[in-house]
Formats: sequence, structure tokens, C-alpha cells
Amino acid sequence: MDFDDPLWFRDAIFYELHVKSFYDSNADGVGDFPGLIQKLDYLKNLGIDCIWLLPFYESPLKDDGYDISDYYSILSVYGTVDDFKKLLDEAHSRKIKVIADLVLNHVSDQHPWFQEARKDKNSKKRNWFVWSDDQSRYKDARIIFIDTERSNWTFDPVAGQYFWHRFYSHQPDLNYDNPEVREEIKKVMRYWLDMGLDGFRCDAVPYLFEREGTNCENLPETHAYFKELRKMIDREYPGRILLAEANQWPTDAKAYFGNEDEFHMAFNFPLMPRIFVALAKQDAFPIINIMQQVTPIPENCDWGIFLRNHDELTLEMVTDDERDIMYNEYAKLPKMRLNLGIRRRLSPLIEGDRYTFELLHALLFSLPGSPIMYYGDEIGMGDNIYLGDRNGVRTPMQWSYDRNAGFSAADPEQLYSPVIINPNYHYEFINVEGESRMPNSLLNWVRKMILVRRKYSAILGRGKIRYFYSGEKSVLAYVRNYGNENVFCIFNLARVPKAVMFDLHEFKDYTPVEAITDSDFPPIGELPYFFTLNSRSFFWLYLRPPGDNTGK
Ligand code: GLC
Repeated sequence: MDFDDPLWFRDAIFYELHVKSFYDSNADGVGDFPGLIQKLDYLKNLGIDCIWLLPFYESPLKDDGYDISDYYSILSVYGTVDDFKKLLDEAHSRKIKVIADLVLNHVSDQHPWFQEARKDKNSKKRNWFVWSDDQSRYKDARIIFIDTERSNWTFDPVAGQYFWHRFYSHQPDLNYDNPEVREEIKKVMRYWLDMGLDGFRCDAVPYLFEREGTNCENLPETHAYFKELRKMIDREYPGRILLAEANQWPTDAKAYFGNEDEFHMAFNFPLMPRIFVALAKQDAFPIINIMQQVTPIPENCDWGIFLRNHDELTLEMVTDDERDIMYNEYAKLPKMRLNLGIRRRLSPLIEGDRYTFELLHALLFSLPGSPIMYYGDEIGMGDNIYLGDRNGVRTPMQWSYDRNAGFSAADPEQLYSPVIINPNYHYEFINVEGESRMPNSLLNWVRKMILVRRKYSAILGRGKIRYFYSGEKSVLAYVRNYGNENVFCIFNLARVPKAVMFDLHEFKDYTPVEAITDSDFPPIGELPYFFTLNSRSFFWLYLRPPGDNTGK
């Protein structure tokens, strides 16, 4: 990635982490900014380009910081604003960008704005929230946290009215019809951008406005507001980015790119569950089908592709059939489910299968879009489904086989969360130090794949995609193309080996070069090209043109 290119995000590999979970520098059981700074070299060495920080603002932590009680300060256990500035400097000096969560749909009910609003009908803050005397309005809006909430309205006895909330009932929605709210959020953004932050992952973007007779998602008013924010970025902070968390069907998700005048990036929510469906069905169709629905997008925008994140693996925007397949395959125990989703980490989801792990990362790093990894998945960390809410996928990072997985020198009881000690995923055996020493560990394999992706970053980052068909439904194949350069990617999603042939004669006399080891395959001729693929295996093949001796 070119650090100074305004389109840096198109070539970047992102890494999502919670400062709380990464490294505890002062032995209080909670990770902090000075701790994260100490681990920047690890991230550099892993090869990532941009850190996405989960919310670190002042908060009562009833939704792990997505319930903000002061946008302008840092929760003191995580450090100070000066520590944060130091993080930005230290990251930037290593050519790593940093983006942070911007939770703009709602605040904590402990936020002084809400406290003022509820206490007095005539207070200046009353109209910063959405109130009603009964629960009859906006009936068509779905409930998102269906396991805990019964309504999007909650009665506040102090206010004597109901307030509107799309998430937990302790997270009142801000009233975006109020221009003061719209201006305040710009102020919040400027505050952090002025320190040098490289952009925001905007939380829960579809829900800003409410309108009667709609489902209150993706409204034109919401798009118009984000276009305003984008204008502000373009004018005042060129090169910084906005990344949309819009868990929607393809057309609605795509709409957040606007006409290159809204979000720079959006998470590819449509693709994520379909990768897992494709694996379960051993069929490439769900991936190709959804990719055809989410493309094309404007040239200077990009999807963020991900396999897992800090939330449950969401199954809200899939068909009933797809959801059944997912639950049957990946969430056999009720405790593995939450709302409409699956609260498990990557490795346990795929039952620790190394081949599937590699296959999934080969997809993540070669499908169009910028890969977004979730901390700990690169070492194959496990989860703890007995912790409540989504806490089971937010346990401390496993650095070594020392006390508390090397995460903290606190007493074990003092940790914000227990470390993973299930024998299959025990930190004594799944940790950064140990895996760094083993040449064939998951961690070293991921590092190597990131290096290979870097080598072909233009093709895999910005290139076009074209699918190839062999007649074997479990084999996915595509060419990524950028200018005259091509990488042919082929994946066997089946649990058995497959032999397939592809008509590649348009690349006659090109030499496929296996991208990880740089080893040459026989040149392509007129006849179909033959591959044998082991179960859950893949190839990335750089297609070296005839007469090219550049050594790629
Ligand atoms: C987003 C976050 C999730 C949070 C919710 C409410 O979906 O990813 O963690 O609970 O917003 O803020």
C-alpha cells in the first residue's frame, strides 16, 4: 500500500482490534493504548496496513463501548488522549493507518445529553432524541437485538414518554432531524480527525432517520447526511476514509457508495455468510451469485471483505434456507447462536480444520475488496460460548504461554475476561510467540499469504474479476486482471479431491506460476488445462506472458 495515495484503502489489509483485548501494559487486567503501542511491531510484521479500533470512548460498557457517554474522551482504563495521539504517531511512523469506530446512531442513556433531555421537556437536549407518547409510530421497523428487546420504544419514567432505540434499550437513538445533532457529529469527527485519525468505521449507518410507513432503514435522508459528511472529508481531510457498517441486501448495501460521493468503503455483508454457505454446500454458486449482485461498484470505492468480526456472524440478510444451512452446519448448540446469528470465532466455526482455514484466507485475500481481519484469527484463536452476549469472541489476545496468555501481568481473576483454556484452543498452545517459532504455524502461513498478496497487490487489490467454469460445481475459479496482468485463482470447496479442466486457451503460451512458491506449471496450450485439487485446496497462479523474463 502506498501510504500517501488518497486511494490507499483499495490496496490495504485491515486489522480489527479492541484496545481492551490486545495488550495490558499496566497490569490492571484491561488492555490499553500504551499496550497496543508496544504491539505495533507485531502488526507491522504481520503485514497489515490499517488498524480499525473498536470504540474506546467514555462509556458504561453495557454494549462494550457502543454505548458512548462522552464522544470527546477516552475511557480512562484504556489510557489518555495523549496516549491515543502517541498511538497515531507510532502507527504512522510504521506506515500503518488507524481508523476508529464512529457510533453515530445512538448514545448511552448515561450520556449527559440524554440525562438532560429526559429530565425536562423544555430542555435544549429534549429534541436530540426521538420521543413519543405511545408505541404506535414506526411499526414497520424491525427489532435487531431480538433476543433481548421486545420493542424499539422504551418508556422512560423520568421523561414520561417513550424514546426510540434500534439497539439495546439503554441506547437511545439520536434525532437526525435535528440540525444540531447533525452538526455535533461533524464536530466529533473533526475532533478525532484533527489528531490525525485516518477515518471512521461508521456504526449502524442505515438507521439514522425514521419515517412513517417505511422500515426506517436506508432512507434518502440518511444517504443525504452521509453525503454531507463525505463532502466535509473531501474538503477538509482528503485521504481519510469512511467505511460503512450497513448490513443489508446487495442493492441497499451498494447504495452506500453513492456516486463516489458517499462512503469510500462498505463491509461486504452480502458476501460473508455466502462464503460459509458455499463451503457447507460444497458449491461455488452462492459466492459467484452474490458477487455478481454486489458488483460493479464505483471505481474509487471498495468493499471491505471479512470472515469474522466482533459481533455474531450475522444471518439477518440471508434467505430462510441459507440460515438453516448455516445453523445446521456451524451452530449445532443453542449457545452458539445469538439473535439471528452465530457467536463463534473463525477457527471453532470450521472445527479447527487447517485446510478450510487456508482456503478461506485464500478467498479473503483474492476476492475483490480489501481484506479485514479480526484480531486473534490469524493464530486460530478459540472462543468461549459460555460467556454472555458476544463476549465469547472478545477474549484476551494470546501472546505467549505465560500467565494470562502473556496478555497481562494482573491476577487471572482480575482480567476483564477469562482467557481461552479449552484444551483444543488452549493459550499454551495457540499463541503468537509459539507460532512465530514454528515455520508451518497458522500465523506464519498468514504472514506469508499477506506477503504474496502484497506482491500482486495491484491485481488482487484493484483488478477486475472474471469467473471460469469447469462443470464441477464445487470448484470456484476466477481470473483477477489488472492491465496486462492476470492471476488465476482456483478453489476446491469440496471435502473430496477433484480433477477439473478449464478452457484457458485465451492465455495460450502463458506460464502459470504458483504464487506462493514461485514454481512454474506447464505452459497453457490450445487444449483444456487440467488441474487436480485436493479437498479444500486452492491455487493462485500468476499467468506469466510468453517472453516475459521479469522473474515474477
Ligand atoms: C453495531 C456493532 C455492534 C453494536 C451495535 C450497536 O452493529 O457492530 O457491536 O452492538 O452496532 O451499537
